[in-house]
Amino acid sequence: MARIFSGIQPSGTLHVGNYLGAVRQWAATQADGDALYCIVDLHALTLDIAPDELRARTLDTAIGLLGAGLDPDVCTLFVQSHVPEHTELTWLLECTASYGELRRMTQFKEKGAGQESVRAGLLTYPVLMAADILVYDAEHVPVGDDQRQHLELARTLAARFNTRYGDTFVVPEAVIPAIGARVMDLQQPTRKMSKSTATPLGTIAMTDPPEEIVRKVRKAVTDVGNDVAYDPDTKPGISNLLELLAAATGGSPAQLAAGYSSYGQLKNDVADALVELLAPVRRRIAELEADPGTVHAILDKGSHKAHGLATPVLDRARAAVGLTARRP
Ligand code: TYM
Repeated sequence: MARIFSGIQPSGTLHVGNYLGAVRQWAATQADGDALYCIVDLHALTLDIAPDELRARTLDTAIGLLGAGLDPDVCTLFVQSHVPEHTELTWLLECTASYGELRRMTQFKEKGAGQESVRAGLLTYPVLMAADILVYDAEHVPVGDDQRQHLELARTLAARFNTRYGDTFVVPEAVIPAIGARVMDLQQPTRKMSKSTATPLGTIAMTDPPEEIVRKVRKAVTDVGNDVAYDPDTKPGISNLLELLAAATGGSPAQLAAGYSSYGQLKNDVADALVELLAPVRRRIAELEADPGTVHAILDKGSHKAHGLATPVLDRARAAVGLTARRP
């Protein structure tokens, strides 16, 4: 059984981009392998977040993931900071990575831009991410398109470590969906939909009620002209709506475009499709919100299992670099 690993930051309510780019795949393929899904609370500390917010969002994210269809009897759902092997392996990998390659990461440049003081953790963020993956010998990593470069770095670090110290890590592969890998902001369709977006109207949360979804899709920014065509370069707004429709209902965005003669008609169908797609997710989330004790128990069980898997891999890496064995 292939080992599958992926992670998500507890940085707010999950949105349609998270769902279509990543989480839907996690749920769909959880039974195809030995799947681990992680709420990466340590990654959230790279930007400013209040302690109470972090606590609340960690639970909310767990609820969102379970609501989106993760089955704790099938996959392992856990919190990153509950498994300290992630951070210990990070150090070994930080001594494998170079400052130059971390500084060149697109997300580091974007997230650090304009900040008076950039946290060192923001620079080393992708190394922690590599450790998340490598500490489980993960083969497949289902992510959206924005994580492509970080995955490449994880592969580079695994291969470099293996060359330097002998075969230690599995070199992981990104699994990126053909459609929905880069959902754009509805108000600024040249920017990806993001939890930290400046335009709340541009982001559809998984928990948005139907009337809110309809309102946001109706207000979505469109492009000059009025022909419905799929061309992300010249028609980013309409192309994003077509991509959302394709991801929600199947088919390809270009084919779907042929069935529409007006923007309004397309928007109605996108809104209907998203309302239908998210209705069961929203229902399950509401049920779980009433039962946080069960969610904490699921996370505890997951952390215990993950810890058991991570320990031997970390020991292998420690031995490879020449750290002496720890006495029990
Ligand atoms: P995060 O928390 O930003 O996003 C979680 C997942 O959602 C995907 N995603 C999107 N997909 C399509 N369109 C969008 N607009 C969109 N926005 C987000 C992301 O690609 C991701 O798959 N660094 C990671 C978390 C992480 C991780 C890992 C992932 C930490 N360690 C190890 C995989 C393996 C992040 O910040 O994702």
